[in-house]
Amino acid sequence: MHNSGTYAICEIMYNAKAFAALTETSPLAAFNFQRRDPGAHDVQIQILYCGICHTDVHIARNEWKGTTYPCVPGHEIVGRVVKVGAHVKKFKEGDLAGVGCMVDSCRTCENCKQDLEQFCSVGPTFTYNAPDKVSGGLTYGGYSNSVVVDEAFTLQIPKHLNLAATAPLLCAGITTYSPLRHYQVGKGQKVGVVGLGGLGHMGVKLAKAFGAHVVVFTTSANKVPDARRLGADEVVLSTNLDEMKKQANTFHFILDTVAAQHDINAYLALLKRDGTLSQVGVPAEPLSVHVSSLIFGRKNFTGSLIGGIKETQEMLNFCGENNIVSDIEIIPIQKINEAYDRLVKSDVKYRFVIDMASLE
Ligand SMILES: NC(=O)c1ccc[n+]([C@@H]2O[C@H](COP(=O)([O-])OP(=O)(O)OC[C@H]3O[C@@H](n4cnc5c(N)ncnc54)[C@H](OP(=O)(O)O)[C@@H]3O)[C@@H](O)[C@H]2O)c1
Ligand SMILES: [Zn+2]
Ligand SMILES: [Zn+2]
Repeated sequence: MHNSGTYAICEIMYNAKAFAALTETSPLAAFNFQRRDPGAHDVQIQILYCGICHTDVHIARNEWKGTTYPCVPGHEIVGRVVKVGAHVKKFKEGDLAGVGCMVDSCRTCENCKQDLEQFCSVGPTFTYNAPDKVSGGLTYGGYSNSVVVDEAFTLQIPKHLNLAATAPLLCAGITTYSPLRHYQVGKGQKVGVVGLGGLGHMGVKLAKAFGAHVVVFTTSANKVPDARRLGADEVVLSTNLDEMKKQANTFHFILDTVAAQHDINAYLALLKRDGTLSQVGVPAEPLSVHVSSLIFGRKNFTGSLIGGIKETQEMLNFCGENNIVSDIEIIPIQKINEAYDRLVKSDVKYRFVIDMASLE
């Protein structure tokens, strides 16, 4: 290793296997590249499972613009530590480890100092499709047989949980945990979760664990029985206007996980006075908010982005203590393109997870 400008450029590399999108329209396909050998503060993880987040589809297909190819998605990573750098304290060879949406940040700005690295003022280094400060080039994500990450951005995984079903906690778990905690959702509150997909089903489990009365809003009639099994106290088919009307002005908090265009005003109408709707789903096109939806009842429309590393560890520990994992469908990596098409059609119960042994 030597320092080049502000970045340490790593010279010792090893071969990694992955699946990548090579253009915005091509199916994901096998891709080989090089990862850095672990530096003094790094851990090298053999990836065992990686969840498929809808963000992977948005980015692989360049729906938010700004994707650089080749793109190796994946930020719900769990695996086993195979090598650690000389100064690593939290991990030793053989330990379980996880990596979520970020692999670095500036660590010195106000937001980083307050454990909110996701809001780093110079921008966190995202796990994939971001400039790689250490190796140069781009970061490559978890649809791969291994990854090397600074231990400061590596999470400890509760040992007794099903490992494959733990992977989605690294994004879907923290993205729903963080706003529910920030707005202190709990007992005596009526909480809505819009969209029963990867994020949504974790939102239901967590809001229920925090003691709230949970109402699921789904466009999929076939998910109604599941929503109850996952912990919902009520389930509303959002396409049924009469059912929607009955819920007007009753919610303290609503978490909207929808990945596509939809009528946000229909949900703002369901909030009580001073209630809050937190948007975590990121449709490619802007949502249209009527000001009247906000001023009558002084309602709050806000958003939330994943969570900091400290809070992600807190969420993992909470899930460990409360036996909370994701409901998953395991696929071999060769089925990735089929899984993407099903995800776009809301046809997943409730998170696809890639078994990385299929990559060998
Ligand atoms: N803010 C963050 O930090 C953050 C982190 C991770 C992901 N995200 C974003 O969150 C969104 C959801 O991610 P995910 O992985 O949970 O996706 P997902 O598994 O596809 O779930 C989204 C759910 O939204 C509902 N839905 C889809 N299309 C709809 C439409 N046209 N109208 C109404 N409802 C619709 C479906 O639920 P029903 O079948 O129940 O209607 C679907 O299952 C994505 O945009 C993703 O990029 C944001
Ligand atoms: Zn994600
Ligand atoms: Zn920072």
